[in-house]
Amino acid sequence: MAIKSSKKTDDNTKERVISPKESELDTLNEVKLRPKLLVDYIGQDSIKKHLDIAIKSANIRWEPLEHILLYWPPGLGKTTLSLIISNEMWVNLKHTSWPAIEKQADIISILTGISEWDILFIDEIHRLKPQIEEILYGAMEDYTIDIMVGSGTGATSIKMDIPKFTLVGATTKLSSLSSPLRDRFWNIFKLDFYNRDELGKIVRRSLNILWCEIKNNEVGDIVAKKSRWTPRIVNRFVKIVRDYQTVGHDVESISGIEKIFDWLGIDSLGLDYLDRKILETLNSFWLKPIWLNTLSSIVWEEEDTIEDVIEPFLLKIWFIERTGRWRVITDAGKSHIETTVYNFK
Ligand code: ADE
Repeated sequence: MAIKSSKKTDDNTKERVISPKESELDTLNEVKLRPKLLVDYIGQDSIKKHLDIAIKSANIRWEPLEHILLYWPPGLGKTTLSLIISNEMWVNLKHTSWPAIEKQADIISILTGISEWDILFIDEIHRLKPQIEEILYGAMEDYTIDIMVGSGTGATSIKMDIPKFTLVGATTKLSSLSSPLRDRFWNIFKLDFYNRDELGKIVRRSLNILWCEIKNNEVGDIVAKKSRWTPRIVNRFVKIVRDYQTVGHDVESISGIEKIFDWLGIDSLGLDYLDRKILETLNSFWLKPIWLNTLSSIVWEEEDTIEDVIEPFLLKIWFIERTGRWRVITDAGKSHIETTVYNFK
């Protein structure tokens, strides 16, 4: 019997501080913290190098940049990179996502409304409907769209030129992207988690921008360690630390910082109640694999959220393994969940 997962418990209605998904508040906070040019962008060195060459070459050839596909989990800087690309090309960025592109008329209106060389950023591009993708094929290939005029037997299609533009597509699921669409991207970049050193640099850069001076370097390392290798989470933590400092809380000592994370319910590795719930559930199955939909029903969380938002980090730190729809806790995950002492108030 398929277990239907109906979602949200009281617990899950809490906004997760460590969610890598962008919230409205992030958009406001990140305006200040987001790097605007490639030189200010920390990490993803190989992507930066390729982008730098592609942008310089397009500028020398006086042509729009070739289409770019960015993939990997949320929070790693796909939006930031698209903003940087538009700044480096000196063009406008039009940001949209699949829910805003329901009908063919929606994408036609976007494509006819942009200016030459503009960057069109489509988030979660793998979710676009096939009839929308079809319009994108011609638009990406030779900057034309086919529009149907008339109706019934008298309907004909006319080709229309659109401005030469660059499509930057972002996806967390490369395998869900149809191959005709994937093949039309000249550059496919896989973003990766950031290492501790890079995160430490992002912490210091963001603290500086927010005029928050912390002399103890270890504090930055703790913030970086708990940020799940994700800059968006780093910046959320930095802002929280700044707020605590502003109201007079001790943010210079390790114990002062650890207290803040205890209050937030975040453990030594940056795991929160939802990660722990998943690990505890898997642990309760004595190292036997369980189905994703069973896990989803037990923890009352959408399968998509578990797969796209929670699991990437748990997989990266080898706390779980997944094979198709099966999930199992590893020895390392088991040991963490059984030995970590939680001081959450
Ligand atoms: N803020 C968010 N992401 C960043 C990055 N990659 N480099 C510098 N600051 C950032």
